[in-house]
Amino acid sequence: MNFKIYIQLLNILSTFCFKQPIPFADSSLSKRKIHKVPVPGNEDVAVWWNKKSKEWNAVHDVCPHRQASLSDGVVNPKTACIKCRYHGMEFNKHGSCTLIPSSTFNPSTFSIKNYYIKEKYNLLWIDDEKDNDIVIDVMERPHSKLPWFITSVKLPHRLLLENSIDSVHVSNVHSDMIPGINRYKPFPVFTKATTNWFNETGFSVSLTNYLDFSTETVYISPYYTYINFPKTNIFAITIPINATSSRFISNLIIEKSNVIIKSVIALFSPLLRKTSPKIFEQDVFMINSQLKNIVNKKTYKNSGVADTPITLYNKWLDKYDNETI
Ligand code: FES
Ligand SMILES: [Fe+2]
Repeated sequence: MNFKIYIQLLNILSTFCFKQPIPFADSSLSKRKIHKVPVPGNEDVAVWWNKKSKEWNAVHDVCPHRQASLSDGVVNPKTACIKCRYHGMEFNKHGSCTLIPSSTFNPSTFSIKNYYIKEKYNLLWIDDEKDNDIVIDVMERPHSKLPWFITSVKLPHRLLLENSIDSVHVSNVHSDMIPGINRYKPFPVFTKATTNWFNETGFSVSLTNYLDFSTETVYISPYYTYINFPKTNIFAITIPINATSSRFISNLIIEKSNVIIKSVIALFSPLLRKTSPKIFEQDVFMINSQLKNIVNKKTYKNSGVADTPITLYNKWLDKYDNETI
């Protein structure tokens, strides 16, 4: 395996903690408004830019007073605290209440959960632990990447994740959408699948076609997948928000960085920003087509070695995944 993701985990077993930091936006996120960010467990977090300390702040998006969403509020320009729009209670970056207007109550009687926002790889990550580190080693080495594709979708994350490790669908689902991709001229037949490793952290499988060309498909629990072509990775992060909706983040990572690659990327970025959502819509269409037939039971039939990543993923779920979403 030449591509690893190391995430330092604290309190992994606690149901009150995220399993890992969760990306939610790219670094260009507007600093001029409060953002409502859904996180696993079907909760929302209010995220705002603190102009005074020049950092992102984040708290649970429910005012303890009468449960209005704090993300509907404002940021007090003097204190940089978030202020509930309903009755004006204010909370600082630690989630401590600093003001209850028109009341003699001590504000410290009220507090809400706070979160930490980290910036790495041009992504903003939300975490409920301050010191968790985020290291994706392909991005620690010289590389080039496209603009991040980030979207929320009403689909269960497991089917979405299956789609992202299913290379065979590409020539069919995305026929004519990507230059050179045509359903009547599919990729060469895969002849061999080799499982490189399979354990509670995920798995890796290499697929080889009859031209002796190999790709490696990797799943790193709980959110990461990539298909590793020589020098290029199709990288995806599939995050469950609740049983029926997910956040999907992906990129093409080229294991090289030079002026030519960077200028080609800059040239094609506007086109990619336009086509990526359309390509993703084609995936969503197919997953919805599956979803209504699967209901609660998958009865997949293996059609050849190219299905091995999906088979391994379902084997992995059976063996290691006890989560309900
Ligand atoms: S609901 Fe937030 S201050 Fe009343
Ligand atoms: Fe696709």
